[in-house]
Amino acid sequence: MVSTLFRECLMDVYIAEHGGEAAFEVMLSHAENDEQRYILGTLLQAETEGKALMRPLISRLGLPLLDPGNTRAETAAATEPFKEVPWRERFVFLGEAVRTTYLPRYEELATLVSADEDAQAAKIAQFMGTHERALLALAVNVIDGVADPAAPVAAILHFPLARLA
Ligand SMILES: [Fe+2]
Repeated sequence: MVSTLFRECLMDVYIAEHGGEAAFEVMLSHAENDEQRYILGTLLQAETEGKALMRPLISRLGLPLLDPGNTRAETAAATEPFKEVPWRERFVFLGEAVRTTYLPRYEELATLVSADEDAQAAKIAQFMGTHERALLALAVNVIDGVADPAAPVAAILHFPLARLA
């Protein structure tokens, strides 16, 4: 039996994946070339896979599969102004948001459950920490001008995109 704290953190992470998916959809709609489409498409895929991976656990724990709030619309609206921000600078903001807000919560998830308590939950919790660290690595790569900056995220996808750029 997992704790209430784990359930709350799991829902925060699950809802954040909805928000991430909405944000990367908006950014993808403003992409200017194949490289940007590949990077943003890879990020979008990571958020979609994050949701898909968590759904069986969310369902088994009797938690809501649908976002009880309005996260998708709110995040999409908040992301829209970033189309005016230069490409690399967008990843400065993304990296900061991940480092200060999302990564601490994502990494907390694995501290709130043990494999003895719930093996599937513990495995997913570990993976979501890995997922968020990969997002941060991508942001740092774009900022630093590293070739194939999306590689850390592509490496953890179950269904990676073909790289055209
Ligand atoms: Fe995510």
